[in-house]
Amino acid sequence: MKKPQIDFSDLPRHIAIIMDGNGRWAKKYFMKREAGHRAGAQALRRLVEQMNEAGFKILTVFAFSTENWKRDEGEVAYLMGLIHEYIQQYIDDAHKNNVRMRAIGDLNALEPSLQAKIADLTEMTKDKDGLLLNIAINYGGRDEILRAARALARHVADGKINPASIDELVFTNHLDTGKLPDPDLIIRTSGEMRLSNFLLWQAAYSEFHATDTLWPDFKINHLYEAVAQFQKRERRFGGRL
Ligand code: IPE
Ligand code: IPE
Ligand code: MG
Repeated sequence: MKKPQIDFSDLPRHIAIIMDGNGRWAKKYFMKREAGHRAGAQALRRLVEQMNEAGFKILTVFAFSTENWKRDEGEVAYLMGLIHEYIQQYIDDAHKNNVRMRAIGDLNALEPSLQAKIADLTEMTKDKDGLLLNIAINYGGRDEILRAARALARHVADGKINPASIDELVFTNHLDTGKLPDPDLIIRTSGEMRLSNFLLWQAAYSEFHATDTLWPDFKINHLYEAVAQFQKRERRFGGRL
């Protein structure tokens, strides 16, 4: 693929990716699903490095959904092991790069050792000034909204918040994404045309880009292609230009 022309002075601030198609990629090459997930993790590593070098600021990736627990025990265990390994590699390499890492989702349901690794990596990289990589693990948009609603209900019950003062900004700040800007562009690989419970609140006015490329085959030029198309669109946010 030729490098698509994009305007680097006007990059989307926040890009989110639904990394889908690892299983189909493995099938295509007569491999086990696990091999697809491993190739997917490698594709993410490469992309993060290149996006950081190119000057992108925020990337949120969907690694494991609240619904992915429905898969075979073996696949779930493999995915969790892979996430663990991926986080450990980032810890080992943290001194070598300027990527900031965070995770969103209900992390309390993860193995305590994985929770501890995520906390370590977040702490180690919190003052870095490169790309912010936000990994969604055990993340579901509905679950995130419910957890925010529960937290707010607790504040109301404790007399800390007046229900009338709960506006969009207050609600947004109680989501896992906190003060991060909403994603400007959401990319989904493998040809599916759905959000699958990703960033439901935050996606209100995101531009959507679907590509048939399977996640392990997704390269920086596919990202540039999505950005090139994004830069040609007119965002109106319900108003008139
Ligand atoms: C995406 O690949 C990875 C996760 C959802 C964890 P899939 O495993 O969903 O791959 P397909 O959709 O079966 O091809
Ligand atoms: C969405 O992909 C979740 C992740 C990429 C982590 P799925 O493969 O789980 O979504 P569905 O089941 O096709 O909607
Ligand atoms: Mg899938």
